[in-house]
Amino acid sequence: MILGIGRAAGKVILFGEHAVVYGRPALAVPVTQVQAEARVEPAAAGTGITICAADLGEEIALGRAAADHPLALAVRLALAHLRGEEVGPREPDWRITVCSTIPIASGLGSGAAVSTALVRGVAAALKQQEAAAGRPAPVLSAATVSALVYETEKLHHGTPSGIDNTVIAYGQPVYFVRGRPAEPFAIGRPFTLVIADTGIRSPTRITVGDVRRAWEREPARYEALFDRIAALVEQARTAIADGEPARLGPLMDQNHALLSEIGVSCAELDVLIAAARAAGALGAKLSGGGRGGNMIALATEKNAARVAEALIAAGATRTIVTEVAPIP
Ligand code: PMV
Repeated sequence: MILGIGRAAGKVILFGEHAVVYGRPALAVPVTQVQAEARVEPAAAGTGITICAADLGEEIALGRAAADHPLALAVRLALAHLRGEEVGPREPDWRITVCSTIPIASGLGSGAAVSTALVRGVAAALKQQEAAAGRPAPVLSAATVSALVYETEKLHHGTPSGIDNTVIAYGQPVYFVRGRPAEPFAIGRPFTLVIADTGIRSPTRITVGDVRRAWEREPARYEALFDRIAALVEQARTAIADGEPARLGPLMDQNHALLSEIGVSCAELDVLIAAARAAGALGAKLSGGGRGGNMIALATEKNAARVAEALIAAGATRTIVTEVAPIP
């Protein structure tokens, strides 16, 4: 018997990573081809909550998990919010199984998606239990899910901008500025992206920390780089809204060049980016924290398969072809 299921898609940042940590805007979209899922099932009376992270081979008893365990924190925060009380002796008896097809530490939002799936799974299970008892179930807004997941993101990232939890909890393309409410952005015409994985796991906490130290050493230079990225984000937003995605190609190339100057590219990303361009992509850039993880290339419906093949030939461990389209 299943009490509730929570799901969440992955994401890519189209423009603006790193600069977004310093108050500049960024654009991000969900990637539904990769997903995290949390399934809540009843467990034997008195056993409390066990989180089973199938992919990591981990079983965590909620009652014994450390305060900073990200999966446990997601469940604790969701329960505390929905039940309006601290989780204690009245913890429900549940087995929560989490699985995810989103590669970890590779810029596709794995941590935020797993936390979002857990929060939604807890909400779905409580809803079913409340309905069975004839009581109204509390409702979780996207803004609340995002705020709860942000708390778990702090464990993964240190000083997250909040973009991952926002785009994943809203499940919509978002124009994001740190500290402001999420702003969905208009897409005038769908466009095709090829996402390719270098296969190198690169924790965001490390690249974000390195950028912070570089910014502290040379604040004026880094602020100027962030301003140039912000200008690209605004131009990209307009091109997307105008239904002229081809204009994004050169903007992606420029954003990548600026990310290289910031110091977050690497040889493997640069090889994939060159290969995508040589195969006919209109532009390409790293996406996310950098120094590994994924890159994105702007393709056409016609050449997407060719670009994806070229990326595999150049060493990508996996590619995803996705269409960025308005949410119906
Ligand atoms: O989680 P990632 O790797 O997509 O990186 C998030 C983007 C950064 O701007 C590098 C960090 C942040 O918190 O916004």
